[in-house]
Amino acid sequence: MLNPPLLSVNNLEIAFKLDEGLFRAVSKVSFELEAGKTLGLVGESGSGKSLTALSLLRLIPEPGSITQGEIKFNGEDILKFADKNMRALRGNNISMIFQEPMTALNPVLTIGEQIAEALTIHDKATKRDAQQKAIAMLDRVGIPDAALRALDHPHNLSGGMRQRAMIAMALICKPDILIADEATTALDTTVQAQILDLLIDLQHEFNMAILFISHNLGVVSEIADDVMVMYGGRIMEASPAPLLFDAPQHPYTQVLLSTLPNPALRGQPLTVIEGSVPTRYDLLAGCRFAPRCNRAIEQCMAADISLVDIAPNQRSACINMAGQ
Ligand SMILES: Nc1ncnc2c1ncn2[C@@H]1O[C@H](COP(=O)(O)OP(=O)(O)OP(=O)(O)O)[C@@H](O)[C@H]1O
Ligand SMILES: [Mg+2]
Repeated sequence: MLNPPLLSVNNLEIAFKLDEGLFRAVSKVSFELEAGKTLGLVGESGSGKSLTALSLLRLIPEPGSITQGEIKFNGEDILKFADKNMRALRGNNISMIFQEPMTALNPVLTIGEQIAEALTIHDKATKRDAQQKAIAMLDRVGIPDAALRALDHPHNLSGGMRQRAMIAMALICKPDILIADEATTALDTTVQAQILDLLIDLQHEFNMAILFISHNLGVVSEIADDVMVMYGGRIMEASPAPLLFDAPQHPYTQVLLSTLPNPALRGQPLTVIEGSVPTRYDLLAGCRFAPRCNRAIEQCMAADISLVDIAPNQRSACINMAGQ
């Protein structure tokens, strides 16, 4: 039998219990991630990217929860794991660079202590050995005087240094899957390039898979093997990165890419997608993007549009595509 994919998400739904009823923030999300590969996840603010990422660690905040689906890691559904097994999986097998570093760092421990702690929990490394590895990783993420900085508490570091410390913590156990949620957005371009190079080096070193969430489509096009586009809690399009960037199929992807700065138009204002994401997009009967889509027809508003294969490895959720 073939080995199962490293990660396979099937029909994921994430919902929040609100006063006015259940808000299905993410639904019908299915995808796979292979060892050593990078999957880019893009989409406007509020489209469900962070929630999808958090679900892989079972860290959806209250009053939210995963209400449907399967998340299989090496063929085993982690939604059925006992909490103890889930804790072992976090950091060791799947780790995350969070959008907001202070949510991930412990304010009462020094940076060195908490990175070393992650190692001693998962790897049974000795304290001294763990400290040294922590300092080496802080150095690799570009923290100057790493041995000294390791003695600092998170609040004594600048935003950029905190971000790098969190990246070091996410990488220290050599995870099978790294989730990078806007990991480098807060950093300046030089540091951003340095961190991306480091991620790619480590990816090659231990065959790490990366789920790379970013608003920066230029960076995604450089780093991702495959790309998934989300809107209104759904996947609109998913395909190999070169195909997606060269020949986007879904009208939403086409509009999203048209917002990319075009060197020929330098100096002119960026295209902005007209309208905004409706807050309760889950209440729409048809395609979530239809109210803003210039190709929408009556049918688009009436019936749910599923994500279907339009070519090998290429999926799109649009009525204008073959198969709908
Ligand atoms: N704790 C929560 N309670 C209620 N709704 C939430 C909560 N967290 C997220 N949501 C809603 O779920 C939807 C998806 O949020 P998510 O954070 O996944 O978006 P995102 O794609 O990561 O956006 P961004 O690009 O701004 O980070 C949004 O409509 C958001 O308002
Ligand atoms: Mg987010």
